[in-house]
Amino acid sequence: MSNVIIVGAQWGDEGKGKIVDVLTERADVVARYQGGNNAGHTVVIGNDKYILHLIPSGILHKGKQCIIGNGVVIDPASLIKEMDGLIEKAIDFEGNFFISKSAHIVMPYHIALDQQCESKKAASKIGTTGRGIGPAYTDKIARHGIRAADLLNPAVFRQKLEANLEIANFVLTNYYKAETLDAETIYAQYMKYAERLGKYIADTDILINDAIDTDKKILFEGAQGTLLDVDHGTYPFVTSSNTTAGGACIGMGIGPTKIKRVLGIAKAYTTRVGEGPFPTEMKDALGESIRQKGGEFGATTGRARRCGWLDVVILRHSARINGLTGIALTKLDILDGMDKLKICVGYKYNGETTEHFPKEIDIVQNSEPVYIELDGWKESTLGIKSFDKLPENAKKYIRKIEELSGVSIDIISTGQKRDEIIVLREQL
Ligand code: GDP
Ligand code: IMO
Ligand code: MG
Repeated sequence: MSNVIIVGAQWGDEGKGKIVDVLTERADVVARYQGGNNAGHTVVIGNDKYILHLIPSGILHKGKQCIIGNGVVIDPASLIKEMDGLIEKAIDFEGNFFISKSAHIVMPYHIALDQQCESKKAASKIGTTGRGIGPAYTDKIARHGIRAADLLNPAVFRQKLEANLEIANFVLTNYYKAETLDAETIYAQYMKYAERLGKYIADTDILINDAIDTDKKILFEGAQGTLLDVDHGTYPFVTSSNTTAGGACIGMGIGPTKIKRVLGIAKAYTTRVGEGPFPTEMKDALGESIRQKGGEFGATTGRARRCGWLDVVILRHSARINGLTGIALTKLDILDGMDKLKICVGYKYNGETTEHFPKEIDIVQNSEPVYIELDGWKESTLGIKSFDKLPENAKKYIRKIEELSGVSIDIISTGQKRDEIIVLREQL
């Protein structure tokens, strides 16, 4: 058995796409298990940049099987656009791309409801990506969602669409004072999507379990990050799925006994996009300089990402919830040239210090981070490929994170490109 769950260890955008792309070299199958096109996974190959939202980042390697699991919510328009983008760049995925029959479909009324809800909430908004993710998962849990298999059965699709749209239009007009949507238009549009996507829709639970049983090497690609998990994140400032490692079992239809490793992807500092508490956020010039140097602008919405120091209270929480077997530390190069580096080791609230990530959102919001300080390094780490070649203080920073988080750092990423990486422990 050789497989690894790739999970974001912070608030998303940790560099999961790059790490999945690198690890795909040794993999046979790459499977995405939750989220939707709220995700934006960037992969840089030579001078080409690819941003993947729904399709697993492994698609850029020829001949690898790529699966979208049942835990994902799929906006067909977005998926087709992504497929067309790949075809334009001569990336061939025919015969190797599969979509779960049980994956839920994002409908136009989900997008309208998401956006209306956010604008009505104004000051208390979550800062969603506006892609309809929350309402699509709401329908799934409410047991009236539309699944990929329904796209292939026009009568069932139409009946579900009409029933759901009746409710959505009622809410849109009466509560949000917004325009209604038309069933006929949506039906025609989605039947076209069905024509295009039909041949990829499959029993992916069987495919993935067969792959496990025949000793295929598998990467399970997560989206978002641990603190955006609907159960274990900074609720309600989270996304609507289980982004943590358990989500891979649910979102693919595999048993927990079939998982070998869980690799947490963590940036060498912390970022967050959208609203919600962020104890180590730097609202000063240093935060701005990290944002600029790190190109910290959302891959999906283009929004500026909030930047802050590395927080091991978060990494310890992430290690516990996900059962991390290792960490891939990314964007080390962005910290080059800093005089001092801070690491948050605890939160002080009402005079007491805790090392555990609090469940109460107001405590997270009003906690004061407790920092330790380390010396930075002046040399460039960009593109360094072996641990020995790193500046001494960079090595100390990495070893300190390992010691404080209790998780071994298996991979260090030193640039955007594929070969800008130090692999200390192979995953597959
Ligand atoms: P994801 O959502 O977790 O896949 O991460 P994103 O793609 O949204 O954001 C990560 C960004 O950092 C992307 O632009 C990557 O190309 C970039 N990146 C990843 N690893 C490194 C690294 O080690 N150094 C630098 N400079 N950039 C990196
Ligand atoms: P990747 O996979 C960072 C954030 C949004 C918002 C909250 C809820 O690229 O790491 P949603 O649209 O999901 O209902 O928004 O979650 N968010 C992300 N932040 N990276 C992501 O994905 C994100 N996907 C959602 O900004 O705060
Ligand atoms: Mg991203």
